[in-house]
Amino acid sequence: MSNTLDASGAGSDTPNLDFAGTTPYEDYVQADVLTHLQHLRSDDPGEMVFLVTTQVMELWFTVIVHEWETAAKALREDRVPVAMDALKRSLRELEALNASWRPLAQLTPAQFNSYRGALGEGSGFQSAMYRRMEFLLGEKSASMLVPHRGAPRVHAELEKALHEPSLYDEVLRLLARRGLPVPQSVLDRDLSRRYEASPEVEAVWTALYEDPDAHPDLHRLGEALTDVAELVWRWRNDHLVATRRAMGAKTGTGGSAGVSWLEKRAQKNVFPELWTARSHV
Ligand code: HEM
Repeated sequence: MSNTLDASGAGSDTPNLDFAGTTPYEDYVQADVLTHLQHLRSDDPGEMVFLVTTQVMELWFTVIVHEWETAAKALREDRVPVAMDALKRSLRELEALNASWRPLAQLTPAQFNSYRGALGEGSGFQSAMYRRMEFLLGEKSASMLVPHRGAPRVHAELEKALHEPSLYDEVLRLLARRGLPVPQSVLDRDLSRRYEASPEVEAVWTALYEDPDAHPDLHRLGEALTDVAELVWRWRNDHLVATRRAMGAKTGTGGSAGVSWLEKRAQKNVFPELWTARSHV
């Protein structure tokens, strides 16, 4: 450790100022890299917060994918408390992710138009990390790999995620190992396809919710997953409302119908049987 010097050079208990190379903070955080990735494409002063909010969300997507992959692995190894810890962390992270809508939530069409042209055909729809989140939630689709053909690393990561069990697949496998009647067809499903709700799985959750004491850890797992699903639903809906305010019914930069396309996406329920089972308890 170097000497502790204050700005006047006197020894004191103030922080170190003297480093031979870059600061240890920089070596760890790479703040210099991170804060020079804001390559603006217009003269509009409002573009900066649009770009940085998008980058911040990408970082949160990355953390959340890490948590859900940790949870999926722990479930595979029957380590439910480790999975619960990761899921609980992801809840606080999803709240922080959702709070980052605030700076963009009230964009007017004129404000958005000031830099919309600079985005070209760029759209969050092309976010590979968001797609990995969706895959982990069971919303698999091979066609979502197509936009990433030109980026080998991203494409390979997405392809791997497409064929791996989702977080929900791991949950259902755990329920089966614990003796609950999850149908074999669900356990053997083609993992690269979107998860489709099953009446038998709904019955399994109904039983777990009717008698929480029978499998208290699985009941708590169900509630943590419901919290995840609710916060993902909130992200989708906050995005939808921000989009509706910023561009009405115009088509998206990514080429979709815009709000009407997002409405359909936002209607889907994550972990569907955890919601429908509630009607039967
Ligand atoms: C208020 C500004 C925004 C508007 C007007 C907007 C608009 C849109 C539209 C119209 C779509 C549909 C695809 C298309 O045609 O482009 C879309 C998709 C998407 N946007 Fe945004 N967006 C905004 C901000 C953001 C931000 C900050 C993020 C953060 C990364 C984001 C992430 C996404 C994602 C992940 C999708 C794909 C959703 C899915 O696959 O279901 N958007 N956006």
